[in-house]
Amino acid sequence: MVGVDPAEPGPGQILVKARASVLNYNEVDGCHGRYLTINPPLPYTLGMECVGEVISAGPGEEAWLGRQVTSSGFGAVGAHADLVLASAAMTFDIPAGLTDAEAAAFFYPFHLAHLGLFERGRLQPGETVLVHAAAGGVGSAAVQLAVEAGAEVIATVGNDDKAQLVRGLGAQHVVNYRAADFVEAALAITEGKGVDVCFDGVGGEIMLQSLRCLARGGRHLTVGFASGIEAEEVPMVNGRILCFGNFDMLGVILAYTPPEIAGKIAGASGMPVPRFNPPTTDIAQKVQDHLLSLLADGKIRPIVGGEVAFEELPQALEAMEARQTTGRIVLLR
Ligand SMILES: NC(=O)c1ccc[n+]([C@@H]2O[C@H](COP(=O)([O-])OP(=O)(O)OC[C@H]3O[C@@H](n4cnc5c(N)ncnc54)[C@H](OP(=O)(O)O)[C@@H]3O)[C@@H](O)[C@H]2O)c1
Repeated sequence: MVGVDPAEPGPGQILVKARASVLNYNEVDGCHGRYLTINPPLPYTLGMECVGEVISAGPGEEAWLGRQVTSSGFGAVGAHADLVLASAAMTFDIPAGLTDAEAAAFFYPFHLAHLGLFERGRLQPGETVLVHAAAGGVGSAAVQLAVEAGAEVIATVGNDDKAQLVRGLGAQHVVNYRAADFVEAALAITEGKGVDVCFDGVGGEIMLQSLRCLARGGRHLTVGFASGIEAEEVPMVNGRILCFGNFDMLGVILAYTPPEIAGKIAGASGMPVPRFNPPTTDIAQKVQDHLLSLLADGKIRPIVGGEVAFEELPQALEAMEARQTTGRIVLLR
């Protein structure tokens, strides 16, 4: 806090006195300066998600004052600060019964997984879902939601400890895709039909390979690019793949901040986005209500892969980049 004036929240903003924040893979790219989508002028504070108390609110957001919340740093940055200027549209009350660390690990992974599997992926009971990086923050949430929805889950992971974790979350099939061919495995499990939905936070070559085991009418969800953010800018899917595959390719964004506010953030990064269609606040509330009922019934649980002190943030980010983390790593104040 030395030398930093607390920000004054403006329209759509609140100020959160943070007790916890979490690591999100986007920060790995952010701190290398290669995440062009969120690329504010230097210096800036990393951190996308936090938990804490609302101590100040912008015009029209006064109802948040004094509440204990999970929230997103405004512009998806700044959440590792003590005082976080946050987006009111990306703020929810801490779910009952969760510790700060669990609450911090809950919001982003489960909202993103829900938006992907159900709002975009139209997942139905009895369908098969291929979840990549299934032991990660977002992947572990996708596995749990898919299992709970009655789907058959084929999970990919990078090592045997992660395999054990996702089996414990209910995944019926687990493939270490660094050691075995996940396409062959998925085709064998589905008896050649292919998977109905692929939840893909890895991208790049893994995305291209995944299209080789997607069923007719299947849905590929582009969630992220953990294998290399450069793939975000590279056209990889041609017309032949789409025509012959007879499947859908769908994008998924977790951003509830209205376009008129978020558009300024995207504009500031200098990256042109052809069209920005964030889910509405109605969808956000519907997702939150469903997640809270699953949580209350003990059907899902946030996965806290570790708790670290602020001083350990650089090492924790390095561990994430080296594929050594599971679930959400939480930074406690
Ligand atoms: N669309 C959105 O709105 C949105 C919002 C937030 C985050 N995301 C994206 O969602 C994805 C998951 O985020 P997360 O924070 O939960 O991360 P995470 O899954 O906890 O960590 C990334 C995982 O990706 C896997 N991976 C595969 N290839 C990799 C490589 N070459 N280098 C590093 N990791 C590799 C690793 O798991 P294995 O070792 O098991 O392969 C690694 O643990 C990320 O791509 C992130 O950018 C998207």
